Amino acid sequence: MPSSPSAAPARQTPLPKAELHLHIEGTLEPELAFALAERNGVTLPYATEDELRRAYSFADLQSFLNLYYALMAVLRTEDDFADLADAYLARAQAQGVRHAEIFFDPQAHTARGVPIGTVIDGLSRALDTAQETYGISTRLIMCFLRDESAESALTTFEAARPHLHRIAAVGLDSAEVGHPPSKFQEVYALAREAGLKCVAHAGEEGPPAYVWEALDLLGVDRIDHGVRCMEDERLVARLVAEQIPLTVCPLSNVRLRVIDDLADHPLPAMLDAGLLVTVNSDDPAYFGGYADDNFTAVRDALRLDEETLRTLARNSFRAAFLDEVTREKYLKEVDAHQA
Ligand code: ADE
Ligand code: ZN
Repeated sequence: MPSSPSAAPARQTPLPKAELHLHIEGTLEPELAFALAERNGVTLPYATEDELRRAYSFADLQSFLNLYYALMAVLRTEDDFADLADAYLARAQAQGVRHAEIFFDPQAHTARGVPIGTVIDGLSRALDTAQETYGISTRLIMCFLRDESAESALTTFEAARPHLHRIAAVGLDSAEVGHPPSKFQEVYALAREAGLKCVAHAGEEGPPAYVWEALDLLGVDRIDHGVRCMEDERLVARLVAEQIPLTVCPLSNVRLRVIDDLADHPLPAMLDAGLLVTVNSDDPAYFGGYADDNFTAVRDALRLDEETLRTLARNSFRAAFLDEVTREKYLKEVDAHQA
């Protein structure tokens, strides 16, 4: 039956997608930060949520990290981590996310006296019911802070050993420049031995040489960000030949001034080069958008057509740490999706 002219236009359902680059601490919205501050008797150096939001103007990665770590002071108990993850999953569901591989930064919590078990148990409580509650399959990725020592990463890995059945992969994040992947060869070898997958942030602010190191010295399965690979033709050829996924975060790149303007983002050139690129939100509470907001933003700024968006959604499942049956099921959902 044709719809009447006065009928409201049908709302598009978002493309089914996997989110592969998402820091759970970067989903801490001001409202939840204030609620947790009150629950835990923590005083924030901001009077209101609006005042906090006004602080979200960043000159570079470090200026963002300063606020990101400071706000973690409100995360103290297992309930806090469960509530944080649950709030993310509810938002992710509305954005078409069907599978989420979620980073967490244990050292940012253990350094404040929060045991690693509290963090992992709290996050796991929300993740364990995510399939049932939100229809989202999940994985946890434990990141090492690269601006801390290699010894600290090793201590963190050993502390996590009793919980490794809940962890799919290790990652490397925080301030990139001056902290090359080579520093973390030993802990990545241990992670690999323990059967974990490996990813690393590289080529966000750091040079293409860091992407080479992540591939050659850490043996990573995916590169997080990686946009600066475009400065090195040989590196692009290697990433294309091996179909190493890159988890690109467009709104993050603009907010952290890795790229001046979304209209200048190298995403189309990366796709044209044959790279296995995915689109992700990184720290959505800080960068102005969740998974589908990033899809919409690149569609509008870069004039991407529906088929390109579908390719990005397919890539997200191709790049995910999934068994082949589940991967095929999700890929079929993309094929069946009607804009
Ligand atoms: N930690 C949280 N977000 C990050 C980013 N974009 N780069 C490096 N470390 C991070
Ligand atoms: Zn990141």
